Amino acid sequence: MAKPRTTFICQNCGAVHARWAGKCDSCGEWNTIVEEDPAGGIGGGPGKALRKGRAVALTALSGEIENAPRILSGISELDRVTGGGIVRGSALLVGGDPGIGKSTLLMQAAAALSRKGHRIVYVSGEEAVAQVRLRAQRLKAAETDVLLAAETNIEDILATLSLEQRPDLVILDSVQTLWTESADSAPGTVTQVRSASQAMIRYAKSTGAAVILVGHVTKDGQIAGPRVVEHMVDGVLYFEGEGGHHYRILRTVKNRFGPTDEIGVFEMTSGGLREVSNPSELFLGERNENAPGAAVFAGMEGTRPVLVEIQALVAPSSLGTPRRAVVGWDSARLSMIIAVLEAHCGVRLGQHDVYLNVAGGYRISEPAADVAVAGALVSSLAGLALPADCVYFGEVSLSGAIRPVAHAAQRLKEAEKLGFKSAVMPKGSQDVPDASRKSSIEIANLPDLVSRIAGGTILSRERDVDES
Ligand code: TYD
Ligand code: MG
Repeated sequence: MAKPRTTFICQNCGAVHARWAGKCDSCGEWNTIVEEDPAGGIGGGPGKALRKGRAVALTALSGEIENAPRILSGISELDRVTGGGIVRGSALLVGGDPGIGKSTLLMQAAAALSRKGHRIVYVSGEEAVAQVRLRAQRLKAAETDVLLAAETNIEDILATLSLEQRPDLVILDSVQTLWTESADSAPGTVTQVRSASQAMIRYAKSTGAAVILVGHVTKDGQIAGPRVVEHMVDGVLYFEGEGGHHYRILRTVKNRFGPTDEIGVFEMTSGGLREVSNPSELFLGERNENAPGAAVFAGMEGTRPVLVEIQALVAPSSLGTPRRAVVGWDSARLSMIIAVLEAHCGVRLGQHDVYLNVAGGYRISEPAADVAVAGALVSSLAGLALPADCVYFGEVSLSGAIRPVAHAAQRLKEAEKLGFKSAVMPKGSQDVPDASRKSSIEIANLPDLVSRIAGGTILSRERDVDES
């Protein structure tokens, strides 16, 4: 008799190991390796006699194409993120921390789509029908024609779907609860998540119904991360938010039918998620315009400009190694800006703790924030507030030069719209209208920025410190 074949699969990244280990070599997570039986599941490997392949017709790259038919929800933040609506026959994964509001978002989307006459099936594997109804009532979605089921078995779900008229969209909440009889592992393991998702994706492709899979991402990776599903689906959206803040950001991570750098901004209220169509107002919040250490960064999220306040606090340190704490930005990038300020601008931060915070719990990934960060740092160190009606953007290079960034005109336009009168931007920014160029300050290097903000104060303050 053949020895039963089992493998050890990391539940976090899906890496296959020959034997159990406490730590996964490929992702570095601890206690994530679980013994599974991959045989039988879809793609379970050889075992059956191999079938002779069937030839498929090869065709040319040029030829007729049709625009992917989409279904629009009317929730514009959601439609923007999906690239103009959910494509029929596609599979989407919506991931996020537990409790962030994925079920709420999808229930609202289901209701909105249903009101537009689409046929929506919502399958909940986590909550009972009564619970989902209760939520729907709270979201004022109960009076719509969304069809509901509480089921976790894939075979049963597919049988149910085949009975009725084909839906336009099937929502499965969540992929971790799904299981198929063809795989032997427990629900939530990589093998189950993978084969259940594959079955649903095949259903989407063969019937033309769109499928949305919901996946929890846990920090400790105990439950199979939706990461193993990411490469199988057509689009991956992440729903994120900071604890203690009410707004949520829906971010495209992968999209085979549209751009991947879009965000949708929502606010969690007692009546569900509310669209925030002007995120800049949200992130600028209640600004104290006369406080030193704050700079407004004119950023871009995909095609949309977003203004955020960057706050810095530079304070003399009592520690041997001063603290560097960053929230919402890259700490390596902060170290680089500090090094450039020290090396090229004579700004000494070696004896100072540096705290950097992006207001509202927002996260910035753009290097264009460099100039705003440098501005906030210098302003805090010098104790001089930056002009309240000025925005900052530009990338700093190691030589201290300030490099132009893309979409300068859009950034300036958004700033103007929100009442900002001037901008500090890189010299040589492209496509800037003459009117905006007149009111803005173009700088070529960081020392120039520092002397504009602080004049001689920083150097003299440093001397005071040295003398004492
Ligand atoms: P939920 O959609 O259940 O999260 P997920 O499916 O991602 O696990 O959302 C849960 C949180 O949202 C919960 O803490 C309560 C909050 N919430 C509101 O604040 N208002 C609402 O109208 C709803 C339905 C939920
Ligand atoms: Mg949920």
